Amino acid sequence: MCGIMGYIGDKPSERILLEGLKKLEYRGYDSAGIAVCTEQGMKVVKTKGRIAELEKLLQKQPLPSGAVGIGHTRWATHGKPSDLNSHPHTDTHKQISVVHNGIIENYLELKEELAAQGARFVSETDTEVISHLIASYDEGDIVRAVQQAAKRLRGAFAIAVLSEREPEKLVAVRQHSPLIIGLGEGEHFIGSDIPAILEHTRDVYILDDGEMAVLTRDGVDLMTTCGDPVTKQQFRVNWDLAVAEKAGFDHFMLKEIHDQPQAYRDTLSGRLFKGYPWVYLPELKLTPEKLRQFRNVHIVACGTAYHAGLVGKQAIERWARLPVEAEVASEYRYRSPLLTPETLVIVVSQSGETADTLAALREAKRHGAHVVAITNVVGSTVAREADDVLFTWAGPEISVASTKAYSTQLLAFYAFALHLARVRDTLPDEEIGPIVLALSRLPDQVASILERAEEIRSYAEEIAGHEHLFFIGRGMDYAVAQEGSLKLKEISYIHSEAYAAGELKHGTLALIEEGTPVVALATQPELYEKTVSNIREVMARGASVFGIASENTVDLASRVDRILLLPSTHPMISPALSVIPLQLLAYYASVARGFDVDKPRNLAKSVTVE
Ligand code: M6R
Repeated sequence: MCGIMGYIGDKPSERILLEGLKKLEYRGYDSAGIAVCTEQGMKVVKTKGRIAELEKLLQKQPLPSGAVGIGHTRWATHGKPSDLNSHPHTDTHKQISVVHNGIIENYLELKEELAAQGARFVSETDTEVISHLIASYDEGDIVRAVQQAAKRLRGAFAIAVLSEREPEKLVAVRQHSPLIIGLGEGEHFIGSDIPAILEHTRDVYILDDGEMAVLTRDGVDLMTTCGDPVTKQQFRVNWDLAVAEKAGFDHFMLKEIHDQPQAYRDTLSGRLFKGYPWVYLPELKLTPEKLRQFRNVHIVACGTAYHAGLVGKQAIERWARLPVEAEVASEYRYRSPLLTPETLVIVVSQSGETADTLAALREAKRHGAHVVAITNVVGSTVAREADDVLFTWAGPEISVASTKAYSTQLLAFYAFALHLARVRDTLPDEEIGPIVLALSRLPDQVASILERAEEIRSYAEEIAGHEHLFFIGRGMDYAVAQEGSLKLKEISYIHSEAYAAGELKHGTLALIEEGTPVVALATQPELYEKTVSNIREVMARGASVFGIASENTVDLASRVDRILLLPSTHPMISPALSVIPLQLLAYYASVARGFDVDKPRNLAKSVTVE
């Protein structure tokens, strides 16, 4: 994820910016850069690659000293990792520099407008419109220009702005993307995260959405982007650096589970509308005509990404009425799949580098199939080789156990399936509307589930002593059960199996005995009674059942040993909620058993070998 660092004071800013950015390295990035106001004007140095590359560049072309500057580590979103796409970005006259975290949804229309006014764009990024936009409003008052520009921007942004004409000021704005202001003695800091500034100060202001800060050596003025003054409490950070890197969470996995409300917002942002066209996927090169020509779909992926594909299969079949096969990539590539130019192949990969998935992608292309990739990493091999890409905007995932990548893959599938259905005219508007509404409610609903983490923790501590566990469910619940089971195995080393609830009686029921823990998902109204019958079957054999159901189905509480009721949503969307308690269950079980949650034994984050 991108990182921001800003400094104003009396010390040379270059070293402070670089050291601050290094503290954000753990978040992942692909390029880095700084802009400093010096006696010779504003200087920008940036490069693709690690901060070490930037340092080498600065050794070759040393900067005149300057005590005001901004820096950035970029995780590519709009535009591949490259020198030109790296931040900071400047206006045409190179007088204003901007670093930005987030996504500007309306950047294309702004770019067109600014280009028509003469702005010269040099990058593929959405960020560059911000520097040109601010410049277009700048009549000698950078604060006012930033306020006017902020009003025009749609989407998520945390920005830091430096102006050569007013080098005694730094301006910071937050809208849906975190930003903090560090308070020192005669010096002040901007950081996208606490670790960036912790070496210098523990006193911070945490900006809220719609707020901005104007930093000088002598003080910090807080205001809204409309210019109304804001007063807020300083926050004293008492975490050490290791804890701060995880935003105060004990592990990256727990942090990433809690990142999900924001990751959902970012992934849906600019793609969903509460009216026609409902879904808009501007990045797709596939035309409606071409989309209508496909006769079948193959979804190919590994591990957790494959499990997202199982949900995607049901969404595409149900909404777009196309036959879909979902298969693990390591099998797919060797079984001579029946591929034609009328087959749409969707490959799913968080990293975009998984060897089996890549091989499947190449096999599909060799047979002339059109490949759409769902991935989290811009510039990854999968993203480069696919014909089309739908990015999940989850931000870097550091824990080996995938959480926010899975859930945002679900959202990408929902958006794609709705788009396909609309183009193929297989789903009436009266059905699309409630689905879109349900999707837009997800971020807040996920946040409300996360508030109940303690309920899951106590169940996790209960199962931590067991060696076997079952997950059961039907339809969408079965697809999610498979992901819950993988998560538990992967980090708690408890053996578990996911079973289609109706299939248990054909053999596996023999394994249920007194006290066997069973997690039963029953979120699907159409299948509810059937699932309840299966729950009865296991309980009659002594199983201890933890039920997960929608809040509409309170009667399940009296039928199981424990229950967690989820906020109600559209049944097809429920995996995006029901996976959250399963992730927490795996996490807390691993903690209770004393394992290294973020680095489970025998596993790697990215599997680049067959
Ligand atoms: O990077 P990818 O999404 O292609 O990775 C695929 C699997 O290796 C990955 O999802 C794996 O199953 C996770 N560690 C599970 O948490």
